Amino acid sequence: MIAVAPSILAADFTQLGEEVRRAAQGGANRIHVDVMDGHFVPNLSMGPNVVQALRPITALPLEVHLMIDNPERFIEPFVRAGSDTIIVHLEVLDDPRPLLRRIRGHGRRAGVAVKPATPIDRLAPFLPEMDLALCMTVDPGFGGQAFLPESPPRIRRLRQLLDKYNPQCDLEVDGGIDLHTAPVAVEAGANVLVAGTAIFRSPTGPTEAVRAMRRQVSEAAD
Ligand code: DX5
Ligand code: ZN
Repeated sequence: MIAVAPSILAADFTQLGEEVRRAAQGGANRIHVDVMDGHFVPNLSMGPNVVQALRPITALPLEVHLMIDNPERFIEPFVRAGSDTIIVHLEVLDDPRPLLRRIRGHGRRAGVAVKPATPIDRLAPFLPEMDLALCMTVDPGFGGQAFLPESPPRIRRLRQLLDKYNPQCDLEVDGGIDLHTAPVAVEAGANVLVAGTAIFRSPTGPTEAVRAMRRQVSEAAD
């Protein structure tokens, strides 16, 4: 099954709880929380307090995408806030395994993300200890960017590696995912779609936008 993970970066922050409920009503499978530190990416977003605020208002898993330097400093705060999955970037770690073990040691799912310029094969040694591999399909930092055309071969290569080393691991894509690019990503091997703008800025509203995306990929998967 293909999962849809709405990214609240594009939500209306004045009614964040309602926005999450609307996405959930459309069949969202998890909620994606983008954390930016102004160093690893040239933007600031949100921290553990947002996860903590959302925790009691939704039963959906909350997945945190840490676009930050020194992610080891923030694992426990995000665990305590109620994160179900914590994703760290490969570019800031020599070896992500100690952090993956720490996240899993807290009973949470552990993921590793790669920027578009990072060779996919660098993930290979770590895949057996990962629950989720995130292939960025834009340069991280901002919502609303276009899906990079070099993404499908990268997704395909990651699928190949996962089939070999860890078929259970999620293959997630993030950036520029909409009704046109979602089937392209799924066809290349993605099974989790992060989408911000296409869900929360959709003229139809988030409920219908999630439904439409799920419909679109169930057709693509047939
Ligand atoms: C980009 C973030 C994404 C972003 C996706 O730095 O990691 O999760 O919110 O936004 P859209 O779907 O608008 O490209
Ligand atoms: Zn993200």
